[in-house]
Amino acid sequence: MNIDSIRFADRFNGISGSAIREIFKLLAVPGMISFAGGNPSPDSLPGEKVGEIANALLQEKGKILLQYGATEGYAPLKESLVSYLKDRFSFTCTAEEILPVTGSTQAMDLLCKALLNPGDKVVVESPTFLGNMQCLNLYQAHLIPVESDDDGINVDKLEEVFKTEHPKMLYIIPTFQNPTGRTLSLERRKRIAHLASEYGVVVAEDDPYRDLRYTGSELPSIKSFDEEGWVAFMGSFSKVISPGLRVGYLVAHPNILRKCTIGKQSSDVHTALVNQAVVDYYLRNDLLMPHVETIRNSYGEKADTMLQMLSKCGGVARYTKPEGGLFIFCELEEGQDATALLKKAVEKGVAYVPGTHFYANGGHHNTFRLNFSMPSVEQIKIGMEKLSDVFSR
Ligand SMILES: Cc1ncc(COP(=O)(O)O)c(C=O)c1O
Repeated sequence: MNIDSIRFADRFNGISGSAIREIFKLLAVPGMISFAGGNPSPDSLPGEKVGEIANALLQEKGKILLQYGATEGYAPLKESLVSYLKDRFSFTCTAEEILPVTGSTQAMDLLCKALLNPGDKVVVESPTFLGNMQCLNLYQAHLIPVESDDDGINVDKLEEVFKTEHPKMLYIIPTFQNPTGRTLSLERRKRIAHLASEYGVVVAEDDPYRDLRYTGSELPSIKSFDEEGWVAFMGSFSKVISPGLRVGYLVAHPNILRKCTIGKQSSDVHTALVNQAVVDYYLRNDLLMPHVETIRNSYGEKADTMLQMLSKCGGVARYTKPEGGLFIFCELEEGQDATALLKKAVEKGVAYVPGTHFYANGGHHNTFRLNFSMPSVEQIKIGMEKLSDVFSR
């Protein structure tokens, strides 16, 4: 029988996964300046250091690290995470409330696996991170977008939706959000923790960017205001050590974590032990923050340069002014189409991601996302001049 008659699962209905992939193909053109990705700069990846650490760890305990391990995670890493989380995210938890995962992408997948039936309602920020929206779609969630402003998601609207729609989950990126770069205010963080327990909604708090702050002061996590366990916190070392290591973690109430652990057993048994041990080594030996400091200096300068160039960029009506992270979100004049203009930009040798892909219901065609971690300062200057040319015509 012809393979075209294969019957795929309904969960893939309407999911093409191709929108952004098409853009990434364009980036292979030599000389292209890309503001489209979301990767850490290659200069920030500590290849030599990770090599040294992995080598030493394998000499010392290779027989353990190369063997199967517990789904619950590498115990020393869980201990290190307890103090890291207290220090950096201002909440206390026990090692039993932490599940190391294969990138925080897996934390989201496991939460969806544990909690969602097809058709369950999930509130997302509008706009939000495309990757996790895809995960929610694959679990056949019914997405309810709630708009955000410079202080993050609109909490009055959120309460209204909690009251009238009874969603099961809220997915939120409170710090240097992807794609907007915005940070949720302190008041809203407290209110969301309170609303979650009042209405019985699980908050999936996704915070991979917190350590990449260039200006302003840190805010406590939503989880730090959680008294009953409604907030599940997802963290990652992708942006501060290496995305290729695929080490993230989920912190959640033991009842939630138990289901996620069972879900992980059939997914990958456990996260690679050598990689968990490398991250543990970074935390245990206070290597993380000095390394982050060097990344912050370089990304901070790039963010400044891009913001300066945006202030004189033709055609751009508004843009966010992030205090950290990797992205700036921009709006062209109403009626302009960032997808159509991307073709012209690419002809000139510069690329970005049209913002429409970050909205659960599409639309918002005049928006686009810029990344500043990958290009050099020089490329940012040249690329932004090219964009100004394209947009002012
Ligand atoms: C908001 C957000 N969450 C999660 C991730 C994925 O992180 P990880 O590499 O830990 O799976 C990303 C990556 O771009 C992201 O932007």
